[in-house]
Amino acid sequence: MQLKALVFDAYGTLFDVHSIGARCEQYWPGHGAALSQLWRTKQLEYSWLRTLMGRYIPFSAVTRDALAYACEALGLPLDAARSEALMQAYRALRPYPDVPGALEQLRAGGRKLAILTNGSPDMIAPLVEHCGMTKTFDAVLSADALRTFKIAPQVYQHAVERLGVEAAAIGFVSSNGWDALGAKNFGFRVWWINRQDAPVDRLDAQPDGILKGLGELPARLAA
Ligand code: LAC
Repeated sequence: MQLKALVFDAYGTLFDVHSIGARCEQYWPGHGAALSQLWRTKQLEYSWLRTLMGRYIPFSAVTRDALAYACEALGLPLDAARSEALMQAYRALRPYPDVPGALEQLRAGGRKLAILTNGSPDMIAPLVEHCGMTKTFDAVLSADALRTFKIAPQVYQHAVERLGVEAAAIGFVSSNGWDALGAKNFGFRVWWINRQDAPVDRLDAQPDGILKGLGELPARLAA
């Protein structure tokens, strides 16, 4: 079946969450990389645990909580000013270098383009605008509308309903293996951007394609 829409995860796929590591290193020299990693790990863990518990809070609050945990765990003093500054920096993450060009090529392919992210509107809207991508996407969809997080199937179903495209005609792109397989198990066609050359998670499904970067996708789809 022809793909009628391409749907992208945001953090880690289009936008480099570790681009905030430089600011972390500035605040706590020698600890930037460790903090950035633990912050991201905890942010995702909390999203999964909150989904299992049914205790939803917006991803911005999850991200702030994960930062507080990571700083305490690493013994790094975090005051309100630094917390706010880092949350602001999360609204100005860098896109990966190959992303703007790849999106331009994919847009030319005539398919709908959308983001489907856990990011709450207060986080993702300013980030998309900061990166000059407001006109790139037909829709920026947030799990916040469902008050739960990926990989709950209803989040992927939200893209089907909002785009008016059946699941089998949607190509989903994520760098997060768990998200890629959540989407595959839901029924999308899936391309996993495996930048760290990681194994495929054992979660009942395989991606339709594995890429080193988004820049490879236009040629894959044209083939
Ligand atoms: C997102 C995170 C999970 O954008 O990468 O949904």
